[in-house]
Amino acid sequence: MNKFTPTKPAGARSVDDITGSRRLRRMRKADWSRRLVQENRLTVDDLIWPIFVVDGRQVREPIAAMPGVFRLSIDLAVKEAERAAKLGIPALATFPNVDISLRDQTGSHILDPDNVINRATRAIKDAVPGIGIITDAALDPFTSHGHDGILRDGIVVNDETVEQVAAAAVIQAAAGADIIAPSDMMDGRIGAIRDALDANGFQDVAIMSYATKFASAFYGPYREAVGTAGLLKGDKKTYYIDHANSDEAVREAEQDIAEGADMLMVKPGMPYLDIIRRLKDEFQMPTFAYQVSGEYSMIKAAGANGWIDGEKAMLESLLAFKRAGCDGILTYFAPEVAELLKG
Ligand code: PBG
Repeated sequence: MNKFTPTKPAGARSVDDITGSRRLRRMRKADWSRRLVQENRLTVDDLIWPIFVVDGRQVREPIAAMPGVFRLSIDLAVKEAERAAKLGIPALATFPNVDISLRDQTGSHILDPDNVINRATRAIKDAVPGIGIITDAALDPFTSHGHDGILRDGIVVNDETVEQVAAAAVIQAAAGADIIAPSDMMDGRIGAIRDALDANGFQDVAIMSYATKFASAFYGPYREAVGTAGLLKGDKKTYYIDHANSDEAVREAEQDIAEGADMLMVKPGMPYLDIIRRLKDEFQMPTFAYQVSGEYSMIKAAGANGWIDGEKAMLESLLAFKRAGCDGILTYFAPEVAELLKG
């Protein structure tokens, strides 16, 4: 037997003068101990997959600014929904690119029960009843000017827009949407949507509030995807939150909770981890981040150029949302990351 006899010669310096025995690296020394003390984990249950739908059949249009993301016709969106369900992704969030001829000043086509979003909801629910469908009630893909609201004399008018958004929410719920997620930031929309849903028998349809949506440069690729990039003049600063502000974001979330929001979302994601943490600490609500198109494209582009390890950066970015307090993440990486987690 090899016996270890501790020795400490008289007058010797403590071997741990430098650290005072406080060595956090002890738990980092091996993979097994790192796994043992890991505080946060990313699982497939954390993922919501945003997809883009278009009219037609067998359409799979690449979006130049979002490598690996496509506009899908409903038949192919159904196939992707089947794949997502098999991977265990809990929910999809759908966004349309509608023909320019269907866009107008008020976004009236959003009220058509047979628009591409409502048809997609019915088709996906029919084929894959077990996957959650989240629809956006904002007007921007349906307006001729790309704003999220009705434009009157150069102003995005609040209350008239809220009525339109609430009516659209009811139509989306009737098509089978499980969660209405309005991304427009009009004041009072959450309460109006809740009332409209309840009045029409959709008490069980939930609302995910885009509670804190910031005026941001990170939405660029999405606007290409839904075809609003060329339409939008000016910016959305009169309705999205100034990205300099944090207290205002807390007030927005507070109001949306009071109006009946079931879940909160912070958007964009990675530059706003401080907001996620504040909201989670303050309200303990189910809290989500939208890792938006620009965030996706930055990681994809740098990865494709070999400037960063794209896969590792993707995983690190998503785990950061969990650490910040998120219950889940809307991310275009969802299927890729689900495959990876499975393997
Ligand atoms: C607008 C809307 C935006 C996104 C989804 N819906 C922002 C915008 O165009 O101003 C952004 C999503 C993304 O960038 O991934 N209601």
